Amino acid sequence: MQAVAPEGIEARWYGGLAELPAFIPEAPEPAPPEVLRLREHLAAADAVLFCTPEYAGTLPGSLKNLLDWTVGTGDLNAKPAAWLTVAPPGRGDGAAATLASVLGYVGAEVDEAICTRLPLSRTDIGGDGLVVSPEFRAGATEVLLRLTARRRDSGTDRPDAAIH
Ligand SMILES: Cc1cc2nc3c(=O)[nH]c(=O)nc-3n(C[C@H](O)[C@H](O)[C@H](O)COP(=O)(O)O)c2cc1C
Repeated sequence: MQAVAPEGIEARWYGGLAELPAFIPEAPEPAPPEVLRLREHLAAADAVLFCTPEYAGTLPGSLKNLLDWTVGTGDLNAKPAAWLTVAPPGRGDGAAATLASVLGYVGAEVDEAICTRLPLSRTDIGGDGLVVSPEFRAGATEVLLRLTARRRDSGTDRPDAAIH
């Protein structure tokens, strides 16, 4: 997404999934450092784009754990959000359904019209680790533009829109 982000949109990857401790409701304050880092990351984002595999018919536990840390905190409340899946048609629907359900609990503003399936296979990945498929790259850019436009529609326009 960073490679295809058009000018004016900064795509930032949250890379701390594996460092997040397991969520427990009565966690002592202050929150663990990686949770604070997640909160800062989300607070800086104008919108959030999710891309996840499906494990055993639903979200990977690690992503559900991340989302559990946002329940009741307002981190994702009213945040424009969408998902992009690279799974082929007929795969990954359980993960998408669970994601939609959980994002509803945390108050994210998911726009179903932006949520997209752009199937990828391993041969679509170049030697540098980036997707080479022009269809995917164009589709991914379109997702960023539409998510950004939605944020602009909601009246929080900033020239340095950040999509996480
Ligand atoms: C533990 C595990 C469980 C999976 N469960 C599902 C599943 O329930 N439904 C599904 O469509 N894909 C499932 N997959 C496939 C993943 O969603 C994803 O497509 C796959 O890991 C990508 O593999 P690749 O990197 O080898 O292409 C599972 C993969 C793993 C590792």
